Amino acid sequence: MTKLSLPPHSPLLSKNFVYGVATASFQIEGGSQDRLPCIWDTFCDTPNKIVDSSDGHTACDHYNLWRDDIDLIESLGVDAYRLSISWPRVMTQDAKLNPVGVKFYTDILDELKRRNIKAFVTLYHWDLPQHLEDEGGWLNRQTAYAFEHYVNLITKAFGDRVHSYATLNEPFCSAFLGYEIGIHAPGKVGKEYGRKAAHHLLLAHGLAMSVLKQNSPNTLNGIVLNFTPCYSLTQSDEDLKATAFADDYLNQWYIKPIIDAQYPDIINQLPLNHQPDILEGDMELISQSIDYLGINFYTRQVYKAHPTDIYEPIAPTGPLTDMGWEIYPQSFTDLLVSLNKTYTLPPIYITENGAAMPDTYNNGEVNDLDRLSYYNTHLNAVHNAIEQGVVIHGYFAWSLMDNFEWAEGYLKRFGIVYVDYKTQQRTIKNSGLAYKELISKR
Ligand code: NOJ
Repeated sequence: MTKLSLPPHSPLLSKNFVYGVATASFQIEGGSQDRLPCIWDTFCDTPNKIVDSSDGHTACDHYNLWRDDIDLIESLGVDAYRLSISWPRVMTQDAKLNPVGVKFYTDILDELKRRNIKAFVTLYHWDLPQHLEDEGGWLNRQTAYAFEHYVNLITKAFGDRVHSYATLNEPFCSAFLGYEIGIHAPGKVGKEYGRKAAHHLLLAHGLAMSVLKQNSPNTLNGIVLNFTPCYSLTQSDEDLKATAFADDYLNQWYIKPIIDAQYPDIINQLPLNHQPDILEGDMELISQSIDYLGINFYTRQVYKAHPTDIYEPIAPTGPLTDMGWEIYPQSFTDLLVSLNKTYTLPPIYITENGAAMPDTYNNGEVNDLDRLSYYNTHLNAVHNAIEQGVVIHGYFAWSLMDNFEWAEGYLKRFGIVYVDYKTQQRTIKNSGLAYKELISKR
């Protein structure tokens, strides 16, 4: 197979369906000398946190090569580009705008506009200024207000250059991976931290939504959440119960407050010192209406009951990506259908989907049939969800190009474009060529 194929007349073949590619500031930019340090700089400097001991000081050098990268994006024929704003690049330590950082992004946004590429801007994709972490980071309620302030200034500076804003990317990762199990920056470990960080992140989302409604009423404003659907190993009561708990704790925890203004009921099972401090008015702020929901999907997870720890993830046995994540496209359809049944949702955009694969570069070609097949089955999974009544308006491939894959460093390649980190040369992989063809033949 060398092409992506969908059923004839699929809504995914309509010109209205938005196709895009996605990136995030810390993962591609480099140019760290022109911004404040962030929690990922500190994490990278801490021994044994990043598999290849790498950092984000150069990354894909997008800071210098962004014009070429926009040429590349345009050459793929996509309708949209999802990028994130580096908070430490556009703000100074005394909470003013940094004109150098602002210009970097307004230049990019102007160039995208000139080429008719819709800008989907994420306001927080994990690069918290380090000085805010020094004050407690997301464990400190004040960080939510600092975010509100930054969003107020930056959205005014961007004016009408943006098509869509996302307040946060994957608050699950920031809270759970960053403050509960510590495998992401800032690397805090403790069940007493995760839920508190999550609440302040969601509060930051709510405060930012109010700012967006005021400053940017004509953009599509929402949030990007990730989901890893939970499946029970057996149909026994205890496994089913454990799996339902995992789903509430890891997935529903981030969407239920936004749509239904409450945390899942399991909050009452948590020890008091693990629970967040919810102040009056918080849930109203968090649950105000959003124009769209961004969904990131990669894989599913199977669970069984654990005697002391409630739930236990089972190592996957099926086909795996280079991340060791199971390839199980049916769970993408299941997820979308079940979210649609459980909640009253605004239109959905798939803001990330893709796979790391062990690519080889050969004579100017990367023949990544494994990734191509992943995209094929997952685009068809989106098609199937739409057939079952889910309203989905767009799809973004993660990622435009290979980049800094957080704790995995540069060893895992998610791009539809190959990056040679020695020369910074970009090569469109065969999956990228197939994506381009699918988009062009609509
Ligand atoms: C989710 C994150 O938003 C992105 O930064 C990351 O690279 C991908 N998943 C792949 O892990």
